[in-house]
Amino acid sequence: MEITFILNRQKVRVDVPADITLLSLLRDYLHMTGTKVGCEVGECGACSVLLDGKLVDSCLVLAPQVEGREVITIEGVCAEDGSPSDLQKNFISAGAVQCGYCIPGMVMAGEALLRKTLKPTRSEIREALTGNLCRCTGYQQIVDAIEMTAKQRSQTQSGRDKNV
Ligand code: FES
Ligand code: FES
Repeated sequence: MEITFILNRQKVRVDVPADITLLSLLRDYLHMTGTKVGCEVGECGACSVLLDGKLVDSCLVLAPQVEGREVITIEGVCAEDGSPSDLQKNFISAGAVQCGYCIPGMVMAGEALLRKTLKPTRSEIREALTGNLCRCTGYQQIVDAIEMTAKQRSQTQSGRDKNV
C-alpha cells in the first residue's frame, strides 16, 4: 500500500506491505538505520521516534498508522548541517555513551521531554526515560546530559525573550 508522511521535515511517499511496522519501514525500506532494533515488543525503547511530537516505540506502530503524520527519527534531530545537536553533544561530554546501542532512543526520549519543558527536575527526567533501557551506563550520565541541555536551552530562550 502507498503511505505518504513527513519524515524529518521531508515529504515521503512509499509503497510497502500493509503489515510492516514503522521500525521496519524506517530501517528496511528507507534505510534509516539510526533507529535501533531491540526487543521488538515495546520493552526497551531502542526503536523510539517522535510521532506528531510524541515519543513512541516504532516497533509497536504499524506503518499505515503514519499516513499523513509527522515522524522524527534520530537522523532528524541533528543540526541542519548534519552536525550533532546540543543534546547529542551533551551526551558525549557527560560520558553518557558507552556501547551506544540505546543512545538514539535515549536522545529521542530526551528530545520529547525537552519539547515539553525546559525546567525538568531530575526525577522528571528519570520518569521520561522509564521506557528506555540501558545496559551500560547506570543512567546517571544520561540524566546529566538531558539536564545540561535543558539548562542551556532555557538560558538561550530567556536571552532571546529579553531581546524581544
Ligand atoms: S525494539 Fe521497540 S521497544 Fe524494544
Ligand atoms: S550505552 Fe550501551 S545500552 Fe546504553
